[in-house]
Amino acid sequence: NNVILVGAPMDSGKRRQGCRMGPDAYRVAGLQSALSDLGLHLRDLGDITPDIPDMSEHSHLFALPECIGWTKALSRVAQDVAPQGLPIFMGGDHALSMGTVLGMAQHAERIERPLFVLWLDAHSDFHTPESTDSGNLHGTPVAYFTGQPGFDDFPPVSSPVPTDRVGMIGLRSVDPAERARLEQDRAMLADMRSIDENGIKAPLMAFLERVRAADGILHVSLDVDFLDPSIAPAVGTTVPGGATEREAHLVMELLHESGLVCSLDLVELNPFLDERGRTAKLMVDLAASLLGRRIFDRPTRSF
Ligand code: ARG
Ligand code: MN
Ligand code: MN
Ligand code: MN
Repeated sequence: NNVILVGAPMDSGKRRQGCRMGPDAYRVAGLQSALSDLGLHLRDLGDITPDIPDMSEHSHLFALPECIGWTKALSRVAQDVAPQGLPIFMGGDHALSMGTVLGMAQHAERIERPLFVLWLDAHSDFHTPESTDSGNLHGTPVAYFTGQPGFDDFPPVSSPVPTDRVGMIGLRSVDPAERARLEQDRAMLADMRSIDENGIKAPLMAFLERVRAADGILHVSLDVDFLDPSIAPAVGTTVPGGATEREAHLVMELLHESGLVCSLDLVELNPFLDERGRTAKLMVDLAASLLGRRIFDRPTRSF
């Protein structure tokens, strides 16, 4: 019942700035009290800082040294805190998942259980440093932690997460190079079209079944742009046609009931773009659902 909040005000995964204000926006929006109301024991480690190596900037990749520094610092924190409870990494942009997943993968190796990753996102973030045309490293974390080549100056990925242990739900913006690589791979993909057809519960339950069958643990990475921009405007990379508030809560409640979640990233919130804190508050409510908030304690039926 321990939850450890880790502030990761990383803003170097892309050019548009503002995600550095994310951790404080979650605090102001009441993340701490939302979770302690559930009877959880909370600890806020405050904001961590990157461990930036002494190297020069890259010609194409934006803020490469700083991204490497965040990866080092976050993987260390993740490994340290994972044995003590469930860490929530309050981002920060999505490049922070290079560090959090790297650290959680090392933790999983230590406890001898396979790590699975659920990627709730409009984007697949499966570019390599060679294939990204934006040069924004927030578009690359999945390629990094699954062990794709080209991340030369980053910490080596000693226990990569195989792509068949990655589930992606919410996809609706995938670049050609990512798509080509994903099509050969065995990641479980649920794009918005399949969610329209089959609902959001079916692919999630199928993925959770895989995790359970392998006795795995599950890291959840929630990108604000998984949600429809009409309910979650505070993100730099909005893509229309995203998950509804109800779909998102259902995913979180089913994740809670699975008992498989070991860690959570809340990423890409840009408070500078928010409307009276509504996106921050929605993300707090979703985190609360993932940690056990429910409307009724027993299933309700028709009357
Ligand atoms: N695929 C695009 C790129 O490479 C967008 C990535 C958006 N990623 C994110 N975490 N919001 O730049
Ligand atoms: Mn993302
Ligand atoms: Mn995204
Ligand atoms: Mn791109």
